[in-house]
Amino acid sequence: MVHIIDGKAFSDKLCDDLTAEIARLKAEHNFVPCIAVVLVGEDPASHVYVSNKVKRCHQLNIESREHRLDDTTSQAELLALIDELNQDSSVHGILVQLPLPKQIDSKAVINAIAPQKDVDGFHIENAGALAIGDNQIVPCTPLGSIMMLRDYLGNMSGMNAVVVGRSNIVGKPMAHLLLQENCTVTIAHSRTKNIEEVCRNADILVAAVGIPHFVKADWIKPGATVIDVGINRIQDGDRSRLVGDVDTEAAKAVAGAITPVPGGVGPMTIACLMYNTVAAAKMQAGIA
Ligand code: GUN
Repeated sequence: MVHIIDGKAFSDKLCDDLTAEIARLKAEHNFVPCIAVVLVGEDPASHVYVSNKVKRCHQLNIESREHRLDDTTSQAELLALIDELNQDSSVHGILVQLPLPKQIDSKAVINAIAPQKDVDGFHIENAGALAIGDNQIVPCTPLGSIMMLRDYLGNMSGMNAVVVGRSNIVGKPMAHLLLQENCTVTIAHSRTKNIEEVCRNADILVAAVGIPHFVKADWIKPGATVIDVGINRIQDGDRSRLVGDVDTEAAKAVAGAITPVPGGVGPMTIACLMYNTVAAAKMQAGIA
């Protein structure tokens, strides 16, 4: 019988622990972690993601300051805001929701954020630290995924892990985290030959390509642990619904464990943003 890895329950537990820690910071140090959330333009999915993040902040008593800029904002204007937030010692985390409008170079913006305030973990310094195994701030989706894997599998040493997708946000950092767990790691992508065969070798299979139902049941090794990072909205008759990158219903007959969509990786991503914000805030304030 397949085990369903409950990301919602796991994220609620993590957030409960963080709520207790935030209450302690307030009581013992009169200190409140604060994140600035920057949203540029009108992308509907980004608006939903940002309001979910802000809602979680409220639940945990993390202060959030929203900066909503219109889609004609220039790169110079956005960089000026980042500079202001970098200088503001009452702001501990800065999150710029991606994607950004086409006149703005995302890489320049991400790398303008002070690395210690980069709660997304996308800054080149944080990415480099992860690559050499000297983790500073780790991107939220891979962090949430590795937490669930550690909890379910325990020791992953020597397991074959296959990450499908090579993005800087998920695929690459996920591969580094699995390597740190002493897995034998393969990154598969759009140019990989015989991708089904490569996937069938995985004891741990992470799907992060953004294509609905890309990974089929017969790509999965019997008993494997499957982490489905995809959040894809598809039209189903006259209504739309969210599906992952894995054909979950069919995969359940083969996999040993799988994360559902929704209710798997998604809630963990937001919980890890809260985790990174509290950790960054404590570091900046010099509080243990
Ligand atoms: N857009 C899609 N995922 C993310 C994320 O994790 N962080 C930010 N800042 N933007 C995103």
